[in-house]
Parts: sequence; C-alpha cells; structure tokens
Amino acid sequence: MTDGSFISGLRVSNMAKRIQFARTGGPEVLELVDVTPAEPGPGEVRVRHQAVGLNFIDIYFRTGLYPAPALPSGLGTEGAGVVEAVGEGVEHLAVGDRVAYAQGPLGAYAESHVLPAEKVVTLPDGIDAETAAAAMLKGLTVQYLLRQTYPLQGGETILFHAAAGGVGSIACQWAKALGVKLIGTVSSPEKAALAEKNGAWATIDTTREDVVERVRELTGGAMCDVVYDSVGKDTWETSLDCLKKRGLMVSFGNASGPVEGVNIGILNQKGSLFVTRPSLNGYADTRERLEAMAADLFARIESGEVSIDIGQRYPLAEAAEAQEALAGRKTTGSTVLIP
Ligand SMILES: NC(=O)c1ccc[n+]([C@@H]2O[C@H](COP(=O)([O-])OP(=O)(O)OC[C@H]3O[C@@H](n4cnc5c(N)ncnc54)[C@H](OP(=O)(O)O)[C@@H]3O)[C@@H](O)[C@H]2O)c1
Repeated sequence: MTDGSFISGLRVSNMAKRIQFARTGGPEVLELVDVTPAEPGPGEVRVRHQAVGLNFIDIYFRTGLYPAPALPSGLGTEGAGVVEAVGEGVEHLAVGDRVAYAQGPLGAYAESHVLPAEKVVTLPDGIDAETAAAAMLKGLTVQYLLRQTYPLQGGETILFHAAAGGVGSIACQWAKALGVKLIGTVSSPEKAALAEKNGAWATIDTTREDVVERVRELTGGAMCDVVYDSVGKDTWETSLDCLKKRGLMVSFGNASGPVEGVNIGILNQKGSLFVTRPSLNGYADTRERLEAMAADLFARIESGEVSIDIGQRYPLAEAAEAQEALAGRKTTGSTVLIP
C-alpha cells in the first residue's frame, strides 16, 4: 500500500482509523484508534469503506450480550466501499471493485477492513455505497424473514415490531410490494406516519394502545399469520397472543433483552403455535445463498419497490453517539457511519 495513492478515487494510506473496545459496557467504552491495516490472507480482501452500517447487533457485542471472540475488539459487521487489496485465491473480486458486505468479522467500524471474500458482493451501478451500507444487513434480513422463514404469498396479515426502524422500514415496503397487510408497532405518532408512508397497512402506538386488542380489532378477530418480533423480552407473550391458531412466531432480536426461561407448553396453550429464532448467518450461509439473497434485495431497490431510508449519518468518530441514539429509540430508518 502506498501512502497518498488513490484507488477508484479513494485515498489509500498506511494507517487507518478504527473504533474498538477493550472492555464491554456503555457507549463510553468505544475508542477511536489508529491501526496499520492488515494485508489480506488467502481467500480474503481488504475493503476501503465509504460507509459503514450501524446495527443493533453492534450494541449486543459492545454490552457483552453477545461475546466478542477476543478483547480489545473491533466492532461492526457491515460496510460498503472499494476493494483495495486482494489475497491469494480470490477470483470473484479485483482491486477497484465496488462492494458491500453484512457478515464481516467484527471490525467494520473502520476506514478499512479485511474479511473473507466469500462474504463480499459486488454492487450494481445503481446502488451507491451509502445505500448499500444502510441496506445490506437489514435488507438481507428482511429478504429471509419475508421470503424464506415464512414465504409470504400475498394476502396474509403480519405483525412487525419496530416498524419505523432500520429493518422495519424495509419490511414495510417489501410487505406492501408482496400484497401483505403489515401491522407495525411504533412508539410515537411520527414513527407511525413514517411506517405508514413506507406501506404499513396499519400501525399500533405501543405507548398508548393495547397491541393485542388493536390487532383483534384490525383483523376482525382473525389475528396474524406471522409475528416478526425483534424487541424480545418485553413483547414475547404479547406477540404470541397476536397469532392465529398454528401461526408462526419469528423471534429475531433482543432490543429490550433476550427471551429466556420459556416453557414450551405455552405454544400449546396459545394455539398450537410455531416459533423460530433465526439469524442472517443461518440463512446467508453459503456463497450461492448470499448471492441469491443479495440479487433479490438489489432488484427490489433498483425497481423502486424498496427505497432505503437513511435517517441518520454520523462521522465514524461519533459511533458512540450513534449507538446511544439507536438504543435510545431516537433513530428512524437506517443509520450509517461515514469514515
Ligand atoms: N436475527 C437477525 O438476523 C437480525 C438481523 C438484523 C436485525 N435484527 C434485529 O432487528 C432489530 C432491529 O434492528 P435495527 O438495527 O434495524 O434497529 P431499529 O429497528 O432501527 O431500532 C430498534 C427499535 O426497536 C424498538 N424498541 C422496542 N423496544 C426497545 C427497547 N427496549 N430498546 C430499544 N429499542 C426498542 C424501537 O422502536 P420504537 O421506538 O418504535 O418501538 C427502536 O427504534 C434489532 O432487535 C436487531 O437485533 C436481527
């Protein structure tokens, strides 16, 4: 690497800034440090970031809910930019390619990051780096939730929590495009308006409405085919009560804390329900599957069916403030960090 040289218009230097944490805790544990970027090993590439995605999972790693493999640790799993170095044996990528990823090893909160090339996809011309960093993890998640975990056909009624958030904003639009009635939960009138603008069929403001009662009213007593719950602990039982008999509970996040100590008999009591706890890594687990899921997502974005709402942009150095806003329910849509 040469100091001061350029690859596809991006300046390349021998040093890179990254956010790391040496102990788990609040946002204050995040520190901005200078590192010498590693050279990619066999099967790896180094990506120079133009934008980095902010996700709730980053907070789980920072707090220790999900353990980092070692400390000090980098943070973040999603980024977009340009390939600046390619390791031995990598065939589908070359220096200068515009790329994005959502399943990197921890360390995406950085100016550049080394990761397995098999996790990296090439961006179509119509999708810029900020959009990609805002869309990859959240959009691939919506892809598997709506197209694979429960392959929605159109005509179903679903409940989707946090409908004005990053994942939720994409889900509202994608569900509408599929002809699915999405009932979204939100915590303010502004968030309700945003979710409805994005195609939610109805919204429920959890700060002043009873979720089960409203679902009963909205569905004429029929309740939901599927509930997508990323809130976790606080909403587990409410979500089960919003399902019709033999409905599917998709518990896919822990914004309020993890669901623990479940007696499986509750699924019988509440109507022979199904439950699953999926993750992106369990669905985009091969190169072929990742490519197919990304192609589906990019096609939805390029067709205009799904537009990626970047509600907030923060400089990389302000990652702690960005995480505070996300955990404090102050963000809408996606948030990106700009190196
Ligand atoms: N399993 C997977 O594969 C996967 C992949 C991606 C994301 N996720 C999960 O999906 C969820 C959404 O992720 P995101 O990055 O797009 O975040 P987000 O939805 O933009 O932000 C989280 C939202 O959750 C709601 N919320 C409800 N209770 C909360 C609480 N106690 N603390 C904080 N927020 C609370 C808030 O919306 P209101 O104020 O409107 O209630 C908040 O804005 C997260 O739980 C994440 O872990 C899972």
